[in-house]
Amino acid sequence: MSAQPTAAHSKDQHNYQGHLNLDVLLSAMRPVTTHPEEHIFLTTHHSLEVWMKQIIFDLHRVIQHLDNDEVSQANWLLKRLGEIMRLAEAHWVVLETMSAADFAEYRSLLTGASGMQSRQFREIEVMLGLCAVADDEYSARVEKMWPGLIAEHPNTLRQAFFAYIERRGLSLLDVYKDRWDQHDLFLLAEHAFELDRRFHSWRHNHILMVRRQIGIRALGTGGTFFDDYLAKTLRYYFFPELFEFRNDLTAHMGGEVKPA
Ligand code: HEM
Repeated sequence: MSAQPTAAHSKDQHNYQGHLNLDVLLSAMRPVTTHPEEHIFLTTHHSLEVWMKQIIFDLHRVIQHLDNDEVSQANWLLKRLGEIMRLAEAHWVVLETMSAADFAEYRSLLTGASGMQSRQFREIEVMLGLCAVADDEYSARVEKMWPGLIAEHPNTLRQAFFAYIERRGLSLLDVYKDRWDQHDLFLLAEHAFELDRRFHSWRHNHILMVRRQIGIRALGTGGTFFDDYLAKTLRYYFFPELFEFRNDLTAHMGGEVKPA
C-alpha cells in the first residue's frame, strides 16, 4: 500500500492552465526557420521527449518494486511502458505527413541539432541496462557525451529483473513451461519482452522514416552516415535472453534449431 498522498502546490495551480503549467509548456515551441512544416517536426520531438520523461519516471518505480519483491506493481507499470513505446512509434505515421520535399526546404537551417543528442533517450537505454549487453564502444560514447549518466544508474531494469527471477529460483524455461502456476513471473518476462520488442520496432521505424525523409545515404544533422551509426543501433536489445531462450522453447517441443 503506498503512503497517503499529500498536495504541495500553490493556489494558482487550482485551475487547468495552472495545474498543467501551460504557459511554460506551450511557450517551448521556438522554430528556427519560417517554414510552416517545422511546426510538426518540433511537435513530434516535444511530444516524444514528454513521453520519455514519463518512461524514466516509471522505470524508477518498476526497478524499486522489483527490488522490494512487489512483482504485481512492477508488472502493471512495465505493461504501461510497452504501451508508451507503441504510442511513440505511432508518431512516425504523423511525421510522415511532412513531405521529404518540405523537409529538404528547411533542413539545412536546423544547424546541427539531432535526436542522437537526446539525453533522455540515452538515459532510458542506460536505465534499461544496455551498457551490460552492448559493446564497450557504446558505454564509451555515452560517457563521453553525458559524463556521469551511467554512474547515476547503478541498478538497471535488467539487473532488477534477473535478480528477482533468481530469487524465485527458476529458469526462464521453467517460467514459460509453468506459466499458469508462475503467472506473475510469466507476465513479468512477457512485459519486459514486449517493451524491448517495441523499442526495437521504434528504432526500425525511425530508420524507415529517415529513409523516407532524407534518403539512406544522406548525412544526418548529427554528422553521421546510416552505415556508421543508425544501422549499428539495430544490434541493441535490452533483454537478448528473452529472445534467445525462445529457441530453447522450440527445441524443447521437438522443433529443429540451429546451434548458436
Ligand atoms: C524528419 C525527421 C527525422 C529525421 C530525418 C531523423 C534523422 C536522424 C538521423 C540521420 C539520425 C542519426 C544521427 C545523425 O547523424 O543525426 C537520428 C538519430 C536519432 N533520432 Fe532522428 N530523425 C528524425 C526525427 C526524429 C524524432 C521526431 C525523434 C524524436 C525524439 C528522433 C530521435 C532520434 C534519436 C533518439 C536518435 C538517436 C538514436 C540512437 O542513438 O539509437 N528523430 N535521426
